[in-house]
Amino acid sequence: MQSILESLRSVVEEVNSEIAGGPIVPQVTPQQIRDHLARYDFSQPVALPELCADVEQMLRTWHVQVTHPRYFGLFNPSVTFASVVADALVAMYNPQLATWRTSPAANEIERHTLAWLAAQFGLPTNASASFTTGGAEANLSAVIVALTKAFPEYGESGLLHLPASPAIYISEEAHHSFNKIAHMAGLGRRAIRTVATDDCLRMDLADLRRKLADDRKDGWAPFLVVGTAGTTGAGAIDPLADLARLCRSENLWFHADAAWGGASVISPRLKHHLAGIEAADSITCDAHKWFSVPMGAGMFFCRHPQTVRAAFHAETSYMPAETAGAVADQYHSSVQWSRRFIGLKLFLALAERAESGYVEMIEHQTRMGDVLRDHLQRAGWRIVNSTPLPLVCFTRDGLDPAQFVAALQRRQIAWMSTVKIRGTPVVRACVTSFRTTETDIECVVREMSRLL
Ligand SMILES: Cc1ncc(COP(=O)(O)O)c(C=O)c1O
Repeated sequence: MQSILESLRSVVEEVNSEIAGGPIVPQVTPQQIRDHLARYDFSQPVALPELCADVEQMLRTWHVQVTHPRYFGLFNPSVTFASVVADALVAMYNPQLATWRTSPAANEIERHTLAWLAAQFGLPTNASASFTTGGAEANLSAVIVALTKAFPEYGESGLLHLPASPAIYISEEAHHSFNKIAHMAGLGRRAIRTVATDDCLRMDLADLRRKLADDRKDGWAPFLVVGTAGTTGAGAIDPLADLARLCRSENLWFHADAAWGGASVISPRLKHHLAGIEAADSITCDAHKWFSVPMGAGMFFCRHPQTVRAAFHAETSYMPAETAGAVADQYHSSVQWSRRFIGLKLFLALAERAESGYVEMIEHQTRMGDVLRDHLQRAGWRIVNSTPLPLVCFTRDGLDPAQFVAALQRRQIAWMSTVKIRGTPVVRACVTSFRTTETDIECVVREMSRLL
C-alpha cells in the first residue's frame, strides 16, 4: 500500500502542478467533443491505459480547472490527496451502507465523522446525521422532516389533507434549491416566501415577522424558516441566533443552510459568526465545498432523530432484518436507499491532517479573501458585499461585469463569475482553493487593471 500511495501521490502532484501552470478555461464546442467521442462506438474493446490517457487529455483540455489556484468560483474546491485516495478505496470495495450489518465498518466511520462535526455545531449527541449527495439533498431532507414534524398527518395522507397550505421562509439571497424542493415536495413554488434582506444582505427579521403574520391572516400555515450561513451569491450570514429565537417562540422549524459556510465552525477565529446554529432544528453542510473533498459529499444534521425516522422509515421483507442495538440502518433515516460510502473522503482527509490542519486550510483561505479585498480596493475597485468569509463581490463605475469576466477567462487570468446584488450585476470571486496564494492574488488584480 505504501508504494502505491507514494506513486499515486506523485501522479496527483504532477497533475496539480500541470493544472496550476496551464489554462483555466477551455475553449471548445459541444460538436468538437462529440466528434472526438465518435471513435467510441463500443464495438471493440480498448486498452485501459489508452482509454485513461484519452480521458485525462479530455479533462486537461476541455474542463474548467476548478482546482486551479486562480479559480475563484462557485464553491468547487481543490481536493486533498487523502480524499482522492478515499474515493478510489470506496470504488474498490464498493460498500453498500443502506443497512449497518452489510457495511459495519463504513457505517461506523461515517457515524464517527459526523459525530465530530455535529459536536462542533453544538448539536446534542443523539442528533441524527447522514451524508447526502450534496446540499440540495440535505435541504430536501430538512423540508421533508420539518413537514413531518409540523403536520403529523402529512406522511400518510399527503398535503391535500392539510387544513392550510404550508409556507417556507427564505431570504432573497437563499439558495434556489428550495424553490425546486417546494416543487418536488408537492408544496408548489408559491409556498416559498422570499424575505427581504438588510444592508448586509442578511435576512430582515422585521420583514420575516410581517410576512409570517400576513400569511397566517390569509390562512397559510408557516412551518419552516431557512437561515443561510454563507449565501451563494455574496457569502452573507443570516442572523442565526435571532432566527433561532424567533422560530422557537413561533413554533417554527429552523433550518440552517450552511452548505458552504458551515465548515468555518471549526475555526476558533470564525466560529462566532455562526452563533445560533447550535439551536437549529436541522443543518446542511457540504463536505464537497469548504472541506475540500471531491464532489458528491453533503451532510444533513437534525436534532430530532425520531422525526427523521418517521419521515424516512420503510418496511420491506427483502431488506436484511433491522440491526439490533444502538445502530440505525440508514435506509430508514435518509432519502437514499442504496448508499455509497460518501463519508470516507472526509474521514480520511480529516484524520490525515487533523482538525488543526483543517483549521489552517480554512483560515488560510479566509486570509486570502481579505488579501483579495484589500488588493481590489487599492486598485480602485468598489466592494459591494460584507462578509467575514472569503467571497468578494465588486465593481467599478462604467464596468460591464459580464464582458469583463469573459475577458478574464479568455485571457486565462482567472475564473470569476457575475452575480446580481440588489438587481445590479457585479463580479463575484470566491477563494475556493487552499492552494491560492498571495502571489496569485497580486498577479490577478494586476492583470485585471490592465484589462480596463
Ligand atoms: C447555500 C447553498 N445551499 C445549497 C447548495 C446546494 O448544494 P449542492 O450543489 O451541493 O447540492 C448550495 C450550492 O452552491 C449553496 O451555496
